[in-house]
Amino acid sequence: MNLTIITKSPEETKNLGKEVGKLAKRGDLLAFYGELGAGKTCFIQGISRGLEVKDYVTSPSFTIINEYQGKIPIFHFDLFRLNNAEEILELSYKEYFYGEGLTVIEWAEKIEQFLPKEHLKIDIKFKDRYQRTISFIPQGDRFNNFLEELSRIENIRD
Ligand SMILES: Nc1ncnc2c1ncn2[C@@H]1O[C@H](COP(=O)(O)OP(=O)(O)OP(=O)(O)O)[C@@H](O)[C@H]1O
Ligand SMILES: [Mg+2]
Repeated sequence: MNLTIITKSPEETKNLGKEVGKLAKRGDLLAFYGELGAGKTCFIQGISRGLEVKDYVTSPSFTIINEYQGKIPIFHFDLFRLNNAEEILELSYKEYFYGEGLTVIEWAEKIEQFLPKEHLKIDIKFKDRYQRTISFIPQGDRFNNFLEELSRIENIRD
């Protein structure tokens, strides 16, 4: 199934992210798509809340990978500064993508060819200044139950 949710504020996006964080398991990979300022980092801040991470989560501006410890480790990639997809090969990316934590990737479109077959694509589009259309598009079967459960959540709105 595909799932699309419209959020009407950064707080709603974080709340949605929090629910995603609660459902996330070791070895999951979430690939975020969306323009500058779409809300990828905001969503990931919510994920870190859902996983009870204590560190403050920002876009890792000078490091491509940030790691946080919550209920499970989170490997946060921000590929904005990647010039070409092959640069990912120098980052031991497989240890993260196929590792024992949750991998979240901003600007996943830049390395689409290196994404594992099983991952969850999360596409964030501007609707207007405060609204975002967030689509969940599973690749492979791994996220079928995940999306079923997410679609049942009703308390995403404040
Ligand atoms: N519904 C919404 N959901 C998320 N962010 C929103 C929403 N409405 C407004 N915003 C604003 O949009 C901005 C989103 O910024 P954020 O850093 O999360 O984007 P990003 O996709 O990570 O950008 P970048 O590509 O630069 O990393 C914030 O300033 C936030 O306050
Ligand atoms: Mg960001």
